[in-house]
Parts: sequence; structure tokens; C-alpha cells
Amino acid sequence: MAEAVARGSDSIENVETTLKEARETSLDDLFGCDGLALGSPEYFGYMSGAIKDLFDRTYYQARGRKEIYKKPYVVFISAGNDGLGALRSIERICVGYQFKKVYEPVVARGEIDETVLAQCEELGKVIAAGCDAGIY
Ligand SMILES: Cc1cc2nc3c(=O)[nH]c(=O)nc-3n(C[C@H](O)[C@H](O)[C@H](O)COP(=O)(O)O)c2cc1C
Repeated sequence: MAEAVARGSDSIENVETTLKEARETSLDDLFGCDGLALGSPEYFGYMSGAIKDLFDRTYYQARGRKEIYKKPYVVFISAGNDGLGALRSIERICVGYQFKKVYEPVVARGEIDETVLAQCEELGKVIAAGCDAGIY
């Protein structure tokens, strides 16, 4: 799913896309990008530990900083049967960061099929094209 989002984003001219695992992602990455696509599996009704760790490592230093204020973001989730716990927990924390949600999330339930991947690609295009156009 992340690769499909990145492919969509990459297809927008003038946009540079960076695909990173949460564990490798730093505060500087959050500061340096124009928009974010956050992806996570749902584990035990919550976001993955790796995404939570990214938030834990960066929240206090990021909170209130102009570099992240109203930064546009989108979310994609893979789940066995629900995904809403992961989605809600991510969106709640993003309110704390003062990120700005700019498009509906993609929540895959069960098998990752071509439809899901197409939705992810679309998600990547939307966030990238919007950032490029400066509409957020
Ligand atoms: C430890 C663990 C906990 C899980 N908990 C949930 C859950 O609470 N709700 C759900 O819908 N799926 C749950 N699943 C299923 C995963 O969300 C699903 O298989 C997802 O596609 C895994 O993505 P991944 O292959 O990137 O890890 C769980 C899977 C694992 C391994």
C-alpha cells in the first residue's frame, strides 16, 4: 500500500516523494516535507508500534512549531477486519500535532487487491498534487 501511495505521489511532476519506514523517520523528516501520507496496519485495535514510536519520539518537539502547523496529511490502513481503531488513534494524534487532514483515508480490510492499490495510488496523487498546487 505504501508503495502504491508513493507511486501515485511520484507521478506528479515537480513533486519529490520519499518513502520511509516509521522507524527511520525523524523529526527533521516531518519538518522538511510539504505533506504526509501515514500508513499503518491495525494491530490489537490500534496503530502499529512503529507508528506510535514515531509519534512518541517527535510529539513534544513538534508540537506548536510552525514547520508542522496545518501540514496536510492522509492516512492508509491495512486491517484484518476493521481498521477503525488504528485510523481513529492516528487521526486523534494528528489533531494534537495540528496536522490538517485533506482527504478521506484508505482502509483495506483483508486481502490487498488491485482496487485497494488503485485507491492508494489515488491517495498519493491527491496529497502530492494538492501540495504542488499549494491548495492546502
Ligand atoms: C499482532 C496482530 C494484531 C492484529 N490485530 C488486528 C486488529 O485488531 N484488527 C484488525 O482488523 N486486524 C488485526 N490484525 C490483522 C492485520 O491488521 C492485517 O493482517 C494487516 O493487513 C497486517 O498488515 P502487515 O502485513 O503490514 O503487518 C492483526 C494482526 C496481527 C499480526
